[in-house]
Amino acid sequence: MSSSLGVIVHGGVGSPIDRDRGCKKAVAVAREMLLSGSPALEAVVEAVAVMEDDPEYNAGTGSRPRLDMTVEMDAGLMTSDGELGIVAAIRRVKNPIRVALEVMRRTPHIMLAGEGALSFARRCGFGDHDPLTDERRQKAAEVLEKLRRSDDRSLLDLLGSSDTVGAVALDSGGGLAAANSTGGTVLMLPGRVGDSPIVGAGFYVTASCAVATTGVGEEIVRRMSALRICDAFEASPAGTPEELRAACEREAERYPREVSFGVIAMCRQGAVSADNRTMPVVSWFEAGSG
Ligand code: GLY
Repeated sequence: MSSSLGVIVHGGVGSPIDRDRGCKKAVAVAREMLLSGSPALEAVVEAVAVMEDDPEYNAGTGSRPRLDMTVEMDAGLMTSDGELGIVAAIRRVKNPIRVALEVMRRTPHIMLAGEGALSFARRCGFGDHDPLTDERRQKAAEVLEKLRRSDDRSLLDLLGSSDTVGAVALDSGGGLAAANSTGGTVLMLPGRVGDSPIVGAGFYVTASCAVATTGVGEEIVRRMSALRICDAFEASPAGTPEELRAACEREAERYPREVSFGVIAMCRQGAVSADNRTMPVVSWFEAGSG
């Protein structure tokens, strides 16, 4: 008799679906961990860290700069035991998701933000790292310069998609976990925090499902989308992946076309996703015999 195992990750709604090289690597890493008996929590942290280290994604190294050309990042995670770890508007660390894990493990708190989060990270031994790549800096500077001379908002497209990476997983003990990490959205004010580290908006986990969302942070927080999907699934008659997919699709339908939204979710019988734009998604699921 064996238990079901699985992981699903995304590389941000609005990103081309073929931007999935890092997603595939993230799933491969998490799959090996889950097959070796690691908890879902550790699998989602490592999956997200792989994508944070890939400059193609807007998380960790490769994060979009703010209007003042600094990078501030948000990351959060949750388990089906109700454990939480979150950092918001943290600067100059390589892997915000690893700092969030330490917030969960080493503090009585659930969230640390700004300078306090950074000083906690340094006390934990996380070294200085500038996540702003030359490419991101140059693109942002070009767009800002053009915006100064024009009111053409389509110039923002030059910056590319601007979203989160996320992962959810199911482990051999039946534990579920969700994790998010982001550099935020385009041309933000310093200090702005979106949905990604907000419990119930960017992510939520119950005893029977785990959800991570991506899209326009302000709109996702208004709708509390991750919590709503979990609640809908908990109320579904059979708790099947089809019902989870339907809950995700219903939530996606609440967003107007111009407001990007995507979601990945996992229950004990499978992994699903839904989005209203393109979104690179990679998953692996192995059904148990018991
Ligand atoms: N979903 C990423 C953000 O709005 O910050």
